[in-house]
Amino acid sequence: MTQKRVWRSFVTKSLLFLSVVGFSSAAIGKEGMWLPPKLKNQEKDMKELGLQIAIDGIYNTNGTGLNNAIVLFGKGCTGEVISPKGLVLTNHHCGYGSAQALSTTEKDYFANGYWAKNLQEELPCKGLMVTFIRKIENVTARILDGVADELNDSQRDSIIKTRIAAVEKEIATNTGMDANIKPFFKGNEFWVAISETYKDIRFVGFPPNGIGAFGGDVENWMWPRHTGDFSIFRVYAGADNKPAEYSPANKPYEAAKYFPINISGYKVGDFTMVYGFPGTTNEYISSFALRHVYNIADPIAIEARTRKLDVWTKYMGGSRDVFLKYTSKRATVANGWKKWQGEVIGLKLNNATGKKEIYEKSFQKWADADKTLPFADTLLPAMKALAGSADNTIYEDQYIKEAALGIELIQQGAFVDKIVGCARAGISGAAFTDTLMKLVAAQEGFYKNFDEATDKDVFKSLMALYFTKCSSTLPEYYVSIYRSNNQDINVLADMVYQSTMLTSITKLKEWASYLTPADTVKIQRDHVYLLYDALMKARKERLLPALNAYNTRMRYLERLYMKAQMVQRKDKELYPDANLTLRLTYGQIKGLDPDGPAKYSFQTTLGEAIALDDPNSDIFKVPARLKELYTKKDYGRWGVNGVMPLAFTASNHTSGGNSGSPVLNARGELIGTNFDRAYEGTMSDYYFDPNRCRNISVDIRYTLFIIDKFGGAGWLIDEMNIVTR
Ligand code: ARG
Ligand code: GLU
Repeated sequence: MTQKRVWRSFVTKSLLFLSVVGFSSAAIGKEGMWLPPKLKNQEKDMKELGLQIAIDGIYNTNGTGLNNAIVLFGKGCTGEVISPKGLVLTNHHCGYGSAQALSTTEKDYFANGYWAKNLQEELPCKGLMVTFIRKIENVTARILDGVADELNDSQRDSIIKTRIAAVEKEIATNTGMDANIKPFFKGNEFWVAISETYKDIRFVGFPPNGIGAFGGDVENWMWPRHTGDFSIFRVYAGADNKPAEYSPANKPYEAAKYFPINISGYKVGDFTMVYGFPGTTNEYISSFALRHVYNIADPIAIEARTRKLDVWTKYMGGSRDVFLKYTSKRATVANGWKKWQGEVIGLKLNNATGKKEIYEKSFQKWADADKTLPFADTLLPAMKALAGSADNTIYEDQYIKEAALGIELIQQGAFVDKIVGCARAGISGAAFTDTLMKLVAAQEGFYKNFDEATDKDVFKSLMALYFTKCSSTLPEYYVSIYRSNNQDINVLADMVYQSTMLTSITKLKEWASYLTPADTVKIQRDHVYLLYDALMKARKERLLPALNAYNTRMRYLERLYMKAQMVQRKDKELYPDANLTLRLTYGQIKGLDPDGPAKYSFQTTLGEAIALDDPNSDIFKVPARLKELYTKKDYGRWGVNGVMPLAFTASNHTSGGNSGSPVLNARGELIGTNFDRAYEGTMSDYYFDPNRCRNISVDIRYTLFIIDKFGGAGWLIDEMNIVTR
C-alpha cells in the first residue's frame, strides 16, 4: 500500500461522497471537549447515547473520580493508570523520547523493544514527569472582577497576570498542591487546575518499532491503521506516596483510582468517551483567519518540511547512527507535515470557510438587532479588514520559521545569542568561563542528535527556498554570495559549514575553556551566527512590528467575538477550545471507509497487519516473533474466535495531546488507548464534521496480547483488573 495510492483514492472518493450525500446526513459524532466539572450539563445527552455510570463518578473532588486515574504525560500527551501500583499506559510515540534517551546502538529499544521483568528492571527516565488533576474550579470572578471587556489587552493582561499569580499562590498554600490557572473561551473565563506532579517515572514496557510504530509515517493520520502505538511506564513516589525526586528508595505509586480493563470488545454504535488533555483547537475562528491557515501557514509548512524530510530520510536510510539521531525528530516534523496536508484537504472539501461565512451572516444579523453588547456588530467587519492586511507578513514569517529556522545549525544562533548576552551583561573572569561552560554543556543533547552532513544538505535545500520566496528579511551579504554564484547554494553552504565552530560540541568546549568576554568577538564573527543574527534583526525590524500589532488586535477582537457568541448562543452550552487541560469528549464506535469495501469499517486485525508485512521496508517489517504467534494463533485470552483485534475508530472529538488518552466504554472501563485521527478529519481542530472526523485507538486486547505473549511480561497483567461484560 503506497501512501500516494491511498491519498489519491481518498480524495476522489471524498469528492464523490460529497456530491452524492451533500451535508445532510445525520450527525453521529459529538462535537465538544467538555470541562469535567460542567459535565452535568451533558448528562442527558450522554445517557441517551448509552452512558451507564453516574456523572460524578467521572469527575469529583473526593478522590474517587476517574480524573484521578489520568495523567498529563510529559509535555503534551495523556496517560492512564491501569494498576493499583501506578502502572501507566500511554502511546508508543509518547514514550519515544524516553526510549531514545535510554537507547544506544548496543541497546536499541526501537529495534528490540524493552520489557522489564521485575521492578528492579524498570528504568528511570530523566526529566519525565506526569501530572494528576485533583480538582478544577472556576475562578473567573476573582480574575476578571471589575475588568471591562473593552479594556485594551496590554492593560488587561497586566491586571490579570498579577491576579493569577496571587490566586495560584493562595490555592497552592491552602491545598498543598500545585495550582495552575489558564484562560478559557479566549480569556472570557479562567479556571484553576489543582494538581500533583510526579517526577520519578520509569520505563517498563516498549514494543519494538515493528509493532509500536508499524506503518510509520505512511499509515500515520490514516485509517485503516495497524500500529500497536502503546508503551508502559510506572509512577514512583516517596514513602508518603507523594511526589519525590528520583531515588532508588522510591516506591511504586499506590493508586487509589485506576481503570478496570474490559476485554469483551465493542460494536458499532457503542458509547465511548475519551478523557485526556487535548492541546490546541480553534473552533470559533473566523472565516478570515481560517483562510490564513489553509492558504498560507499550512502550505508553506508543508513545502519546507517536504524538503527537510526528503534529506533526513535519505541520510537515515544510509546509516543506523543517523537513524537513531533523527528518528524522534523526524517523527515530530513529519507528524505536523502530514496532518496539515489532511487539514487543508479537509477544510476545502468541507467548504469550512463557506460554512463559517453562513454562520457569520447569522451572527451579524443577531448583532445588528441585539444591543446587549455595544461592540458586537463591529467585530466581524473589523476582523475582516484586519485579516486582509496581514497576508504578506504571515507569509514571510512562516517561511522564516519553517525554512530558515528549520535548519538546525541556524537555530544554534539562539545559543550564541546567550553567550553574547553574558558578555554584554558584563560578566567576566571565572564567572564568565563558568557560565559559558554551563551553556555549552547544556548543548550536549542537541549535539548528541546532530549530524553535520545531513544538516548541511538541509541547509542547501531550505536556505535556497527561503532566499527564493522571501524579500523583506533576507540577509543581504549572504544572499549576494548566493546570487553572485549563479544561485549555486553549494558555495554558501561550504563557506558556512566549513568555517563555523558550531557543528560540534568538542570544538565548542575547547573554545569555551579559554575564552574571555573579549573573545566573544570571535563567535560573533561565526557565519552561522552572522546569518542568524541578520535574519532575526531583519525580522524584528521589518516584520514583527506589523505581526505583533496584528496579533494583539486580532486577539482582542477574537476575545470579544467569543464573548458575543456566548451571549448570542446562551441557550446552547458551548465548550472552550482545547488548551492542554483535562477534558472529556464522547461519541460512538463508528467506522470510516475511505479506501474500499466495509471490511475496514471500524476495526482492524493482526491478520491485516501481517498481510502488509514487507521484510524490505523499514516500517512495514513485522517482527518474526509476532508472525510466529500469528501463525499459531497463539492469542491467549485476548483473541476473539481466532482473530486478534488491533485498532478501532470512533467519533470522539479529539486533538493533539489526546495521544495516550483512555478510551472508555459506557461503564467507564478501558477498551483502548487513543493515538490518532483519520486524515479526512484532521481539520476538526477548526471545524468538526461528525461524518468524517474519527479518532483512532489501539484495542486494549492487542496491547495486552503484546505485553503478555510477545513481551512475556505477564507479571504486569497480574497487577491489572481485567473484566468481561
Ligand atoms: N499522528 C499521531 C499524533 O499526532 C501519531 C504521531 C506519531 N507517529 C508517527 N508516525 N509520527 O501524535
Ligand atoms: N497523535 C496525537 C497526539 O500526539 C493525537 C492524535 C490527534 O491529534 O488527534 O496527541
